[in-house]
Amino acid sequence: MAAPRVDAKDLVARAAAAREHAYAPYSDYPVGAAVLAGSGRIYPGCNVENASFGLTVCAERTAVLAAVAAGERTLHALAVVTEDGAAPCGACRQVLLEFASGDAMPVVLATPDGAFRETTLGALLPHPFTRKPD
Ligand code: THU
Repeated sequence: MAAPRVDAKDLVARAAAAREHAYAPYSDYPVGAAVLAGSGRIYPGCNVENASFGLTVCAERTAVLAAVAAGERTLHALAVVTEDGAAPCGACRQVLLEFASGDAMPVVLATPDGAFRETTLGALLPHPFTRKPD
């Protein structure tokens, strides 16, 4: 199947909408994410915190796991919305890599006003650990 076209603005809008659902009473740092998957569908995610802090799940992983649970196996782009345009944490970068279409997968970092900058998963996670066969 041909890779779906990445519309960064649309992906950011979906991530911003997901951020409205963030459950972040402990950090007060809501995060929204959206991944564009192989079928062309977009899967949103938000951070979901817990009173036992270590059980918190990041927005990016929520989105990736939703996509995989829906039957997707390839991710073509990610958008993240935070108050300061932050990049995904290291754990999320590793989880994204598992399903990323490649090093060049766009990662769009945005703020709630819609401003964004683009990087790639390869730039965020150089020299990755992978055991996937070539
Ligand atoms: N968080 C994310 O959702 N994604 C990241 O990549 C980094 C951090 C969340 C976890 C926690 O709910 C809050 O942001 C503060 O760390």
